[in-house]
Amino acid sequence: MTLLTINKLTDSVGAEVTGVDPDRLAGDDSLGEAVLDALEDNGVLVFPGLGLQPEVQVEFCRRLGEIDHSSDGHHPVPGIYPVTLDKSKNSSAAYLRATFDWHIDGCTPLNDECPQKATVLSAKQVASRGGETEFANSYAAYEAFSDEEKDRFGALRVVHSLEASQRRITPDPSPEQVAKWRSRPTHEHPLVWTHRSGRRSLVLGASADHVVGMDLDEGRALLAGLLERATQPGLVYSHRWSVGDTVIWDNNGVLHRAAPYDPDSPREMLRTTVLGDEPIQ
Ligand code: OGA
Ligand code: MN
Repeated sequence: MTLLTINKLTDSVGAEVTGVDPDRLAGDDSLGEAVLDALEDNGVLVFPGLGLQPEVQVEFCRRLGEIDHSSDGHHPVPGIYPVTLDKSKNSSAAYLRATFDWHIDGCTPLNDECPQKATVLSAKQVASRGGETEFANSYAAYEAFSDEEKDRFGALRVVHSLEASQRRITPDPSPEQVAKWRSRPTHEHPLVWTHRSGRRSLVLGASADHVVGMDLDEGRALLAGLLERATQPGLVYSHRWSVGDTVIWDNNGVLHRAAPYDPDSPREMLRTTVLGDEPIQ
């Protein structure tokens, strides 16, 4: 029996899932695996107007894997983190301006944790203008390389840091800010991630600071050029939110960003993060 009704949203990334309701998602054992399979195939799953309550969202996410509780305390429900620029709803909202740049969640962990397997957002309040979430397929970005590029870029290693992503939105930081960013360790990752499945994807985005062994500016220009190729408009799915939508993405094979919205907007997404178990290698 087909458990989910899945319709692709673009040629390269994203699919809409219909025919499920919150009770089934939280209560049906077989759905977790079906959702993970569909996620691997499509990178992004959109559940329009699902209306998941926060507790039910966490319950459902438990069927996908272990849940990240490291950001608990910003929302009454453990496992829920409010993504908003409104400081009254999230005291660390200022950091979230970095979501305006293309990135992969979990490239600069506190220790050596793997990138999160899946990030789940449900729209509680939406922006009146902008605030779409945009997605690009980082497997397709690798596949688009020529054979010569696959060889050349497959050998590169890239240093990622929180400082790199924060500097893009705060180019003129105070020494205290810089010290705080630097308290998080930097991480060296291959540019090309070879997954257990055998698939390969690119590890790019705001946290990518420089290419190991390459002139700083030359390496940064290369990273910027590759990111531009990977995220050209024809390869992107842009999700325009309605209240009650839930979207899940796979950080193994998707780059994402928020399209600009008014910093004073009440936009609020409730996020649950499912931990990963696949190191970038
Ligand atoms: C995130 C994120 C984008 C958005 O929660 O990790 O990047 O559109 N969010 O809010
Ligand atoms: Mn993100």
